[in-house]
Amino acid sequence: MTESKPEIRSGLDGVYFMESAICKVDGANGRLYYYGYPIDELAAESNFEEVSYLLMNGRLPNLSELSSFRERMRAARAIPGEVIDVITELSERSTPMHILSTAVDMIGSLKREGPDRKSTYIEIISELSSVVAAIGSISATGRYTRPEDSLGHIENFLYMLKGERPNKESVEIMERMFILHAEHSSNASTFSAIVTASTLSDIYSSTVSAINTLKGPLHGGADEMALRMLNDMRGKDIARYVDNTIALGGRIMGFGHRVYKSYDPRATIIKGILESVQPKASAEVRELTKTVLSLEAVMRDKVSSKGIWPNVDLFTGPVYRYLDILPELFTPIFAASRAPGWCSHIQEYWKSNKLLRPTVFYTGEVGKRYVPIEKRQGE
Ligand code: SDX
Repeated sequence: MTESKPEIRSGLDGVYFMESAICKVDGANGRLYYYGYPIDELAAESNFEEVSYLLMNGRLPNLSELSSFRERMRAARAIPGEVIDVITELSERSTPMHILSTAVDMIGSLKREGPDRKSTYIEIISELSSVVAAIGSISATGRYTRPEDSLGHIENFLYMLKGERPNKESVEIMERMFILHAEHSSNASTFSAIVTASTLSDIYSSTVSAINTLKGPLHGGADEMALRMLNDMRGKDIARYVDNTIALGGRIMGFGHRVYKSYDPRATIIKGILESVQPKASAEVRELTKTVLSLEAVMRDKVSSKGIWPNVDLFTGPVYRYLDILPELFTPIFAASRAPGWCSHIQEYWKSNKLLRPTVFYTGEVGKRYVPIEKRQGE
């Protein structure tokens, strides 16, 4: 008797696999909360260390808790010399996301992950920023800038990336970008981290799974692809560019979302940052801004009725270009920002771990007989 075909939920769309208290993504109304705090308040008032503490502990810290959390992150900033050597060796021959994956896996392999998982989470959150800054600095200048203990997390990240103290505006902008990218419930890269963790593999390996999943252009890789698309459509008829892309089955990067069928609240905030820097922006950034706002208007007319709106990746590129960051570093920065999100979900899932193993509806044959190769005709 053939079994009746179950409902197939492609992309696991709408499938609930656990309960979680970390993050609410309100797709219908375009709202986002980290442990109940609205993202616009966190982006305006908080800082990355405090948001990382919130995601790892489920509540905001008091002064002494924040200060000791900051101290533990500061203590984990330096990167082992062997890892710097590998980053240097690969910088001419590989992409920043590949190098990030290799470097983080190497740090994990050089350490023996101890039973104190809390320390490991904090170290990973700190290390990913240092590694991304080192990748950016070494590929641009060939030099690794050692961390500066007197600086806060984001200020030190920009210092290690650029080799000089950042100005206040750059720190404020990057602080908000890190907060906006820090967490987003069970997105593909977080799910990938959880799948790896569910086998009782280790935290570094789960993080490496997440890094390699984030890389894809349908997910974290869209920030770099969106900027490249804006540059490609510069001076062209944008409506025709969109029509042609969609007609060929392509996607307009920075638009659409599996959960948001409304404007991504992070895009609203990042668009506001982009608009606020216009008076001091370079000709390149002003041109990018003009193009992205025209594209937004075209897409609003064409596809917003289908629930396709700007997402977190649309305005990120022009903002990072304002900070003079190269496109190939956008997704690595996304990864560094998302480190607390990945770690908080690994930590939460392990509280009631269950090996993740979905099933498929088998459509093949059964009972076929093996035929030795000499008797197979033309197969
Ligand atoms: C992130 O999940 C998260 O939370 C992720 C993230 C996070 O913080 O972790 O928010 C970060 O990954 C944001 C998304 C970044 N990706 C992009 O910007 C790439 C472009 N976007 C699309 O590829 C797409 O919107 C997805 C993949 C993001 C979501 O698509 P779905 O839900 O899988 O829907 P789909 O691809 O099946 O598309 C449904 C329809 C199709 O039309 P039809 O074939 O039904 O006629 O909508 C169309 C699609 O063609 N569509 C688009 C489109 N997105 C969907 N058409 C043109 N351009 C797009 N961007």
